[in-house]
Amino acid sequence: MTLHPVTLTTPRLVLDLPTIADADAVTRYCQDPLFERYLTTPWPYTRADAESFLGAFVPQAWASSDEATWAVRLTDGGALAGMISVRAETTEIGFWLGSDHRGAGLMSEAAIAVVEWTLAGGLPGADTMLWRAVQGNVGSAKVARAAGFRRIEPARATVPTRDGSTLPAWHAVRGASVSPDAATSWASILGALP
Ligand SMILES: CC(C)(COP(=O)(O)OP(=O)(O)OC[C@H]1O[C@@H](n2cnc3c(N)ncnc32)[C@H](O)[C@@H]1OP(=O)(O)O)[C@@H](O)C(=O)NCCC(=O)NCCS
Repeated sequence: MTLHPVTLTTPRLVLDLPTIADADAVTRYCQDPLFERYLTTPWPYTRADAESFLGAFVPQAWASSDEATWAVRLTDGGALAGMISVRAETTEIGFWLGSDHRGAGLMSEAAIAVVEWTLAGGLPGADTMLWRAVQGNVGSAKVARAAGFRRIEPARATVPTRDGSTLPAWHAVRGASVSPDAATSWASILGALP
C-alpha cells in the first residue's frame, strides 16, 4: 500500500511534505541539546543526516506507508518550524519544534491536526494512537495532553534510545473520541490543568 503525502492546515500552520530545501533549517534545529536527550535523531547531527532524512527516508516512508512525516510551517511567511510524524506500525506520534518557535502552542496545534487526520482514516486501520516520551519531557507531555491523549501506565513503560537501549518513559493513548478522563489522567505528572 502507498500513502500519498497530504497537506494539513490549521489556523497558524501548514503541514506539508518536507523537502531537501529544508536541509539547512533541519540541520540547524537538530543541534539542540534537548534532541540529544529526548529524541533518537542522530547525535551529533550533520547536514548529511538532514539530506538523507529529507531526500530518502521521508519520501520512501510515505511511499511504503511506514511513516507519514510533515514539515510544520508557519502560514505567515512559510518558515519551517519543526517536524511531526506518525509511525504506522505502532501509530505512534512524534514531533519536534525548533527552539525559536516554542512556547506559542504551535506543536499542540499541529498534533491535533495530525491526530484528527490519522483517526479519521488518513492512516488506514488506525483507531488508536500512541505517544511516548522520556520521563521528564514536560513540554512533550503537555502537547499530548492538549491533543486529547490519556496517560496510561503500562508494566513496561520504556522508550528506545538512539543506542538501542531503553529509558523509563511516559505513555499515553488516544482513540477517535477523547476519553472523559483524558485531561485528569495527566495530573500526577503535570498537575491540574491551569
Ligand atoms: C516538545 C516540544 C515540541 C513542545 O513545544 P512547545 O512550543 O513548548 O509546544 P506548545 O507551545 O504547543 O505547548 C506545550 C506546552 O508545554 C509547555 N512547555 C514546553 N516546554 C516546557 C518545559 N520544558 N517545561 C514545562 N513546560 C513546558 C509550554 O509552555 C506549553 O504550555 P501550555 O500548554 O500550558 O501553554 C518542544 O519542546 C520540543 O521540540 N522539544 C524537543 C523535542 C522533543 O522533546 N520532542 C518530543 C519527543 S516525545
